[in-house]
Amino acid sequence: MANEGFTVACNAFHTPQRGRLEILENCLIRVGDDGRILDVVRSDRADHATILRSADNDGTLIALAENQYLLPGMVDLHIHAPQWAQLGKALDAPLEEWLQKYTFPLEAKYADTAFARQIYGSLVENLLANGTTTAVYFGTIHVEANLALAEICLKRGQRALVGKVAMDDPAQCPDFYRDGGASAAVEDTKRFMRLLAEMQSEGRTLVHPAITPRFVPSCTDALLEGLGRVAHETGCHVQTHCCESDWATEHVQNRFGQTDTGVLARFGLLTDKTILAHSNFVSPEDVDRIKAAGSGVAHCPLSNFYFADAVFPLRAALDKGVHVGLGTDISGGYSPSLFDSARLAMIAARALNSGVDPAAAREARGVPGSRITTAEAFWLATSGGGETLGLPVGVFAPGFEFDALVVDVDAPASNISLWPFESAVDVFDKIVLNAGRANIAAVWVGGKIRSGTTA
Ligand code: GUN
Ligand code: FE
Repeated sequence: MANEGFTVACNAFHTPQRGRLEILENCLIRVGDDGRILDVVRSDRADHATILRSADNDGTLIALAENQYLLPGMVDLHIHAPQWAQLGKALDAPLEEWLQKYTFPLEAKYADTAFARQIYGSLVENLLANGTTTAVYFGTIHVEANLALAEICLKRGQRALVGKVAMDDPAQCPDFYRDGGASAAVEDTKRFMRLLAEMQSEGRTLVHPAITPRFVPSCTDALLEGLGRVAHETGCHVQTHCCESDWATEHVQNRFGQTDTGVLARFGLLTDKTILAHSNFVSPEDVDRIKAAGSGVAHCPLSNFYFADAVFPLRAALDKGVHVGLGTDISGGYSPSLFDSARLAMIAARALNSGVDPAAAREARGVPGSRITTAEAFWLATSGGGETLGLPVGVFAPGFEFDALVVDVDAPASNISLWPFESAVDVFDKIVLNAGRANIAAVWVGGKIRSGTTA
């Protein structure tokens, strides 16, 4: 059924607005041969039975079982693809030390494109199996390795943004892992974008480029200026780290007398297609600037516990209407699962809400009002990410890409236990808090099965 339209008969959950769970019991999702959703037919619609019968008759019906639920595919806004090779280790040092000691030496190895292919093949396969249908990748400084990553995404069918990392400042980047100057980094960024465009088949783009200054400390003014010009000329996405840690924030403040958002705006890198990873130490003025620019934040709750020593003020950003989605920040975050990120976003928000120092008085311990609900956490993992990228993903609605997961609550090795007295909301809550890779039976991207099976 590779390029034909089809209809999925299922029970589905999605969060079309932040915090609003919609339960689609016994619905039909009609998918066109372009992989986009044509129609979401609720059980009470007059033509439900006719559509069901007709799909069944022409052999294009996929009927999920009672124990299977359809969820939108998840969007990971922040992944360091080369760091897949060190997932789950080397987390014993602060950010600035971790970069020099572990991460730059690892990333330098991607000068070897064969090595890159090996790691990237494993990464994309594993992320798809975990339900990540859209992935936003930082690559390395190497154009060829980044093209290999893009090629693997295209071949395996994962929707992605891929960025050639730009980092040229000798004061922060070692000799063995640094662009050969600002203009070389800008030229390589353009070359990567041109070759990536040539790799896409006709029709819609599956893998998009992203201009990727690693973070302000690793880039000279000339590089930031050059990349800002490319952003202006091409209108393509930009991704970078923003206000991640005390060290990074102080470094930028000392160099420019401004915060990251001010510096990025000054160089034309704070656009309505910019994804700012972390953003923990943003001031209210920074949040206003991000909102005014229409940029978005990749909230990386797990990694923040290691490198930021602070929690992103999520509720404050959401209340101001800033676009926010989730990032695993592989390998600063040790889990590849966006279900884990959603849970950790809830935990981080609870930690911020109540505070964590038992020696402090209860009233002075936290920032009340910071918590988020399970539905908000799932929205962040799906629609929040889609909105941040400006891509039609994360919701079951006509015109949106059919990027979806089948969650099998009875899978062998499942941690989800359901009982006859439980409601559909209970099922949703239990899936968000307890589903794992073992529960993800099938994954579609753009209407094509890219992991698992519905059989
Ligand atoms: N800041 C600059 N580079 C990195 C990186 O690779 N990971 C994280 N978490 N922060 C960074
Ligand atoms: Fe990061």
